[in-house]
Amino acid sequence: MQLHDQVAVITGGANGIGRATALRMAEEGANIVVADVQPEASRETVAAIESLGRQAVFVQLDAASKKDNEQMADTAMSEFGRLDILVTAAGISHSNYDSGDLERDMKFALRRLDYLEQPALLFCDIELEDWRRVIEVNLTGTFLAMQACARPMIEQGTNGRIITIASIAAKNPDAGPTPYTASKAGVWMLTKKAARELAPANIRVNAIGPGFIDTNMTAMIDQIEDVKEDLMKLIPMAHKGKPEDIANAALFLASEQSSYMTGTILHPDGGFFTD
Ligand SMILES: NC(=O)c1ccc[n+]([C@@H]2O[C@H](COP(=O)([O-])OP(=O)(O)OC[C@H]3O[C@@H](n4cnc5c(N)ncnc54)[C@H](O)[C@@H]3O)[C@@H](O)[C@H]2O)c1
Repeated sequence: MQLHDQVAVITGGANGIGRATALRMAEEGANIVVADVQPEASRETVAAIESLGRQAVFVQLDAASKKDNEQMADTAMSEFGRLDILVTAAGISHSNYDSGDLERDMKFALRRLDYLEQPALLFCDIELEDWRRVIEVNLTGTFLAMQACARPMIEQGTNGRIITIASIAAKNPDAGPTPYTASKAGVWMLTKKAARELAPANIRVNAIGPGFIDTNMTAMIDQIEDVKEDLMKLIPMAHKGKPEDIANAALFLASEQSSYMTGTILHPDGGFFTD
């Protein structure tokens, strides 16, 4: 039990990487605050955690809201009396993203394919509202969650750990749409900055930059044969990762196994970054 009786707050805990991380940390003895915009899927995560014999509570969160993030941190304190770990897995690939709505995602993907011959137009046609929402949820949302949770961690004075979910798209511009790649590059810089500023308060801050992982966010790749084929050529291991692969990396960063690590990014990516 690497996290016995510790408390982890997981944004985006309703699905995919966030859910797998919540369950992995619960298996290791943590009690969990599941914070997400989707109540129904979140309740499934809560039930799965409870069936592992740990406690869990759901908090309705729009990652872009300062108030919601503060309420999330407050809930950890009022329900469990402590806050040890934050994982920021809430994220969107485009402004219209709604986890699990494959039709919506296909529409977005196919529209991008229309621009294959004219990438300059793809860039010029980005709507301000799309840009804003992706930055707000992915980057501002990560900042707000870190800020809200760092405060009680500092007061607690014990060994806080923050794990952000960036992406290979933080470093590789081909790994996602423009607002998404910019937001994830921001998450990576924010992680390094916070690692320096929070180190004196005994809080370690690290990022995970996953490659392509089999979640709702990448389900549309399997629907478009050419895109899937091209993608697999970029991954030496030639398959998508599992959410559990990322959960294990998050557990490592939350555990004492990584006690001298801060300001790093781990890339569980099947070998994507081998150039
Ligand atoms: N799947 C991949 O290949 C991959 C690769 C690199 C990084 N990531 C990142 O991993 C994180 C998790 O994504 P995933 O792949 O598990 O997808 P997912 O859709 O399964 O999970 C994303 C979660 O975020 C929640 N969410 C979305 N908007 C929110 C908001 N405004 N407020 C609160 N919650 C919100 C969703 O409801 C969902 O539960 C994201 O940040 C994503 O960018 C994913």
